[in-house]
Amino acid sequence: MTYGSARMKEPNVPNRKTLLTLPTPCLVLDRAKLRRNIARMKAACARTGVKLRPHLKTAKSIEVARLFDGPDSPGIAVSTLLEAEYFASNGIRDIQYAVGITPDKLDRVAAIQREGARVTLITDDLGTAQAICRHATEANAVFHVQIEIDCGERRSGVEPDSPLVLEIARTLAGDENVVFDGVMTHAGHSYGCRSLKEIEAVAEAERLAVVTAAERIRATGIPCPTVSVGSSPTALHARHLEGVTETRAGVFMFGDVFQAQILTCDLEDLAVSVLTEVTGHRADLRHMTVDAGALAMSKDRSTENVSNDVGFGLAADIDGSVYSPQLTIARVYQEHGLIPVALPHALDDFTIGSRLRIYPNHVCMTASMYPRYFVVDSEESDGIEVVEEWKRISGW
Ligand SMILES: Cc1ncc(COP(=O)(O)O)c(C=O)c1O
Repeated sequence: MTYGSARMKEPNVPNRKTLLTLPTPCLVLDRAKLRRNIARMKAACARTGVKLRPHLKTAKSIEVARLFDGPDSPGIAVSTLLEAEYFASNGIRDIQYAVGITPDKLDRVAAIQREGARVTLITDDLGTAQAICRHATEANAVFHVQIEIDCGERRSGVEPDSPLVLEIARTLAGDENVVFDGVMTHAGHSYGCRSLKEIEAVAEAERLAVVTAAERIRATGIPCPTVSVGSSPTALHARHLEGVTETRAGVFMFGDVFQAQILTCDLEDLAVSVLTEVTGHRADLRHMTVDAGALAMSKDRSTENVSNDVGFGLAADIDGSVYSPQLTIARVYQEHGLIPVALPHALDDFTIGSRLRIYPNHVCMTASMYPRYFVVDSEESDGIEVVEEWKRISGW
């Protein structure tokens, strides 16, 4: 098989930054694909009648968050308090911290709120709910809190029909410094689905779990305004979301090879890739090495048990077109990635220094290695010119 010659680093032309001049490895974001992925999720939400609260744990970038701005946008979800601080300092006013809160973090939450943002907390624990109430009084703060429900993921959350749901709701709703905001759940087990039918079934279990919990709470006379669900597969493929108010989908905005294999997107939709260079040939071993190793890609192997194992990433040319489902990073060392080829002469298409883009298995893990996105646009420019640079944050 021949792959067509991969392109080399080009001489520096003043003021022109392209994927042929950037230092490698680095993170590339195709803005056109990102916009299309967002439009697709917005259309799915319009169909099911829920608001989209994008989960920005993957993107961790204010420029990405701004693409969701609009009169209908309820705000964002985050997975670390550093993200909450960062997005609040960039003007976002409604932030859900979608990881169980612990009492020692409440001072930090109160500090973010003093700057004008509201940070909605989640808990599945009665002791924590009581601690939130105590802390609100002591710190003269108001905390907005939701109860986390387990819809089958078995990670965290309270069973929807457990007496604990009502105990936590009563505790939170009974405190004058706490606003009981509602219930939320995350159908992370949708990642185990392999067909649309299975995803629809998990989406229905997700919906039913939070709606059941919300109805039980309302039956006691306590208002339960927010009913929040969210995983990318279920948000896109739910048949209906009656009783749900919002979805917190996240990874859909970038997509990755695993998500493509579990039907969240197609390979053509993948917005994020790692730019890498061929660093060596071992014709005797039928492989080339690239400078995208474990620290550039992560060691995520999530496609291992799906339809086509792409090792540590799927190779594409500089324009982002996948060469073949078999051209993948099969092994990684800290800085080396190793790409096998079927026949030694295929290496002639990939001279040392030529450039590839690698689509990651799990974009959340891969992106977390990088301080910025080099933004290209496959619709508004030639797709390899860097049209913007967007900072991303990392840490907790
Ligand atoms: C609590 C919670 N909500 C929403 C999401 C978003 O899920 P996805 O990235 O599949 O859209 C996650 C992802 O880990 C999560 O943990």
